[in-house]
Amino acid sequence: MENIILIICAYLLGSIPSALWVGKIFYKTDVRQHGSGNLGATNTFRVLGKTAGIVVTLLDILKGTAAVLLPLLPLFAAGTIHPLLLGALAVIGHMFPLFANFKGGKAVATSGGVLLGYNWPIFIVVLLVFLIALKFTKMVSLSSMIVAVVGFIYSIIYFVISGDIYLMIIVGFMAIFIFYRHRANIARIKAGTEPKVKWM
Ligand code: G3P
Repeated sequence: MENIILIICAYLLGSIPSALWVGKIFYKTDVRQHGSGNLGATNTFRVLGKTAGIVVTLLDILKGTAAVLLPLLPLFAAGTIHPLLLGALAVIGHMFPLFANFKGGKAVATSGGVLLGYNWPIFIVVLLVFLIALKFTKMVSLSSMIVAVVGFIYSIIYFVISGDIYLMIIVGFMAIFIFYRHRANIARIKAGTEPKVKWM
């Protein structure tokens, strides 16, 4: 029973559409109607500005971290689901949110939150790589995909050193999710029309 509740809680945590709710509650704006139309932190920065963007980034990260840490709650002491599986469910919730007609974001920030909750050094590595990539490319989408590849390479090296196969498998899935959700961005990058950030 605990496992079923854990699965539902992880998915529901990921399903919280931070970009939609922050936009609607505090700015009376539906970010789906503006910019790229994506329910994510990047589009929130684009449409609503820095404060809203930072808040949504932090909330989307927190969803992933909270899902991974759910088994620490005494309520779930008898649960046997691997924390990374719960993290993956939060990422799936973020991409296909129950509370936003199953049309959500592109998996980046919530995946980062999963890494933060499970293995913070990999989070620091991908965060630094993301910032460096953004400095050079000025494209959040491209930087996100670069980070997905670097995170997967890190997880392979970590597997060789520590034997943690779960991290490698889940980070592999996250990378696939991230590339799949960036299909439109990939087309725009190839066409040279992907928007660039001005503040890096
Ligand atoms: O995290 C999403 C980002 O990589 C791209 O977002 O709105 O530019 O499609 P967007």
